[in-house]
Amino acid sequence: MTTAIQQATGAAHTGLLGLGVYRPSRRITNAEICENIDSTDEWIRTRSGIIERRWADEGETVVSMAVASAKEALDHAGVAPQQIGCVLVATVTHMLQTPAAAPLVATELGAFPAAAFDISAACAGFCYGVGLASDMVRAGTAKYVLVIGVERLSDITDPHDRTTAFLFADGAGAVVVGPTDEPGIGPVVWGSDGEKFDLIAQKEDWRDVVQAERAFMPHLRMDGNPVFRWASFAMAKVGREALDVAGITPDELRAFIPHQANMRIVDAMARTLRLSDHVAIARDIAYQGNTSAASIPLAMDRLLVDGESRSGDTALLIAFGAGLTYAAQVVKIP
Ligand code: UT7
Repeated sequence: MTTAIQQATGAAHTGLLGLGVYRPSRRITNAEICENIDSTDEWIRTRSGIIERRWADEGETVVSMAVASAKEALDHAGVAPQQIGCVLVATVTHMLQTPAAAPLVATELGAFPAAAFDISAACAGFCYGVGLASDMVRAGTAKYVLVIGVERLSDITDPHDRTTAFLFADGAGAVVVGPTDEPGIGPVVWGSDGEKFDLIAQKEDWRDVVQAERAFMPHLRMDGNPVFRWASFAMAKVGREALDVAGITPDELRAFIPHQANMRIVDAMARTLRLSDHVAIARDIAYQGNTSAASIPLAMDRLLVDGESRSGDTALLIAFGAGLTYAAQVVKIP
């Protein structure tokens, strides 16, 4: 006798149903950063586009910022926490090896008994999460999935390292992914290149810290210029592939929301992609800094708040970072 296992099927189409963000309260100017490094406000502005960034206060934890952004996303989507089938938290700054942040976030939201796990894909984490969430909803694994990008990079940034101190920042952004009448999330184009593993990495692992009896966390170090060149050129190709597989022409695009790593990378990608004048380009990095997994939802929110984009606009997302990892997809802005 053969035994047939039933398999689930889910929604024909998926989309982003709601967006929420959390911007920490402390504004850190370039002048404050330059108290610890040999640099200038002018150098930081011209080389990175950053005017100021937000750093979290003691009470603004990875979990609290994730929860705040998720509540806003659920409200916006009109979805109750109990309807969430899975909570994905993209982060590299949850400071416990185990358990993950996601189960705690789910519980604080009242999303019981949602599946919950963290994604460690650095700055690509949010787009990895949206890709996974869309596939889950289409496969019938969950009806609604909460995807949160959250970072407290100020914890692992060395304030005396002039190559990174001005760049990294804190914040959170969340979306609810669920079934829609029309396609709202294109196929993800994603990948990794471990040959470049060392270009952005913590300086040492926890065992090294313990053996050296250090009293501080393993800080991030970055070989910025090779990452800059890789992102500026290779990522535009990934963006073009994401447009192709979604069947969207550059003319149909209304917004470009890349990871906010450096304003010059945003500009270089926009030039290589030959975006038309009517495409709104996210430039949230100027006042938010580089918030890794949180940067794309934060930048999407800024376009909406500033009136440069509207709900329903077609947007290209491109994320890239440590690993190296990358992911891009076309979405409709919620
Ligand atoms: O989010 C994850 C992915 N991360 C990224 O995508 C970041 C990508 N990289 C970058 O954004 C850029 O590489 C940085 C903004 C980090 C640096 O800009 P750059 O144009 O690549 O500068 P560079 O590293 O090539 O350094 C140029 C010069 C050097 O001096 P010399 O050798 O030309 O005399 C550096 O020593 O700038 C110097 N420099 C600084 N000067 C003033 C490096 N850091 C600083 C500083 N202030 N903070």
